[in-house]
Amino acid sequence: MSARYQFAGTTAATISASIESGIRTGALPPGAALPSVRALAAQLAVSPATVARAYQELRQRGVLTTAGRHGTRVRPRPPVAARRSALRPAPLPGARDLSRGEPDPRLLPPIGPHLAALAADVGPSVGYSEAGVLPEVAEAARARLSADGVTADDLTLTGGALDGIERLLGAHLRPGDAVAVEDPGWANLLDLVAALGLRPIGVPVDDEGPIAAGVAAALTAGARALVVTSRAQNPTGAAVSAARADELRALLAGRRDLLLIEDDHAAELARVPLHPLAGATANWAFVRSVSKPFGPDLRLAVLAGDETTVARVTGRTRVGAGWVSTVLQRLVLALWQDPAVDDLVRRAARDYELRRAGLLTALAGHGLTAHGRSGINVWLPVPDETSAVTALRDAGWVVAPGSLYRIAAPPALRVTVSSLAVENLAPLAAALARAVRPGPPSGFAT
Ligand SMILES: Cc1ncc(COP(=O)(O)O)c(C=O)c1O
Repeated sequence: MSARYQFAGTTAATISASIESGIRTGALPPGAALPSVRALAAQLAVSPATVARAYQELRQRGVLTTAGRHGTRVRPRPPVAARRSALRPAPLPGARDLSRGEPDPRLLPPIGPHLAALAADVGPSVGYSEAGVLPEVAEAARARLSADGVTADDLTLTGGALDGIERLLGAHLRPGDAVAVEDPGWANLLDLVAALGLRPIGVPVDDEGPIAAGVAAALTAGARALVVTSRAQNPTGAAVSAARADELRALLAGRRDLLLIEDDHAAELARVPLHPLAGATANWAFVRSVSKPFGPDLRLAVLAGDETTVARVTGRTRVGAGWVSTVLQRLVLALWQDPAVDDLVRRAARDYELRRAGLLTALAGHGLTAHGRSGINVWLPVPDETSAVTALRDAGWVVAPGSLYRIAAPPALRVTVSSLAVENLAPLAAALARAVRPGPPSGFAT
């Protein structure tokens, strides 16, 4: 795609502005390859050092990424919005899109009735001086967390998990600092870390969570923060086990130089118990979003932590966005308190498990080992992501290439099972098996 883009500029600033403009218009979409430094320098008749400076500036702002033999590319989610007209096209008609990592909208509790009840009961508008976390919301959140073994004397609310993580990293770290992240890990977090000018250090993950030796190596390499997904790790489905939690708590015990962030985004949807690390370090935060069980559009997460860490996030929010709207807070509280919603969330959790376990079993029937202990994704190691993604697309299935989630982890595919009909499990497993182990091309079979 980039080969057709007309790059311009004679200085590092004008070259980077031209690349940014290409991203805005959609001429340089996420993942687009950029010319090598030398090739672009020759094209623009400038020195390679000038192009290298432009690339470096965009890398430090998380717009570009450079990955070995893949060269320099636009990041999957660069912090520059493309115009609406440049948004990625919908998959081909008839293709089944399993690439998005979203909950099934049909399994989210309807918010209409609660909105209506709220409308009937809404008091006078809350002003700047009284706004903040509503005491009844704090109390309900505290009770829900303490039922899972997380002490939440201090807590606040953020506009979702990633907003909370951004505020935590922004308050504790400075550009250039290193953050230990799971590898493979959540693509949006990798993009956020890049956009904040932080350095990711990959920590390998197995089905029981981040591997302790990897965390130890990241600490030795100077990581100032560690982000751990408690359950339904994206993309592998890993969940921190009791044994792994013990190991990690021992490793992290009493550390004063590391901010520990736990992301329990699956929350009420996770069908495995929580083994929190909360409190292992002096500075810690436990973030639980409502996005997966109750709906991503609610944009709300609970952030509990030690007093200093929570005060930093609350204080920083106050000088910026202010607070999470009390209208939203009351809506979430109503959802938490409705037993019918509870039932729907439990049903969704069971349905996701059936689909995930069903796909793992069907893949095992083809001799393929995939991962997915919890959550809505299955992670299938493959020898070659590009050819597997292409073969699946040709067969009518859209899946996400593992490259979006990996730093040094080996290639794989992420398959989101949340909306997958049970009758499609077998055909999907067969298509995956063919894509992963393509037979000889037709016409050459012996
Ligand atoms: C690992 C992880 N954390 C958190 C979230 C939810 O984030 P948010 O609360 O910002 O919607 C997701 C959603 O996909 C996720 O995969």
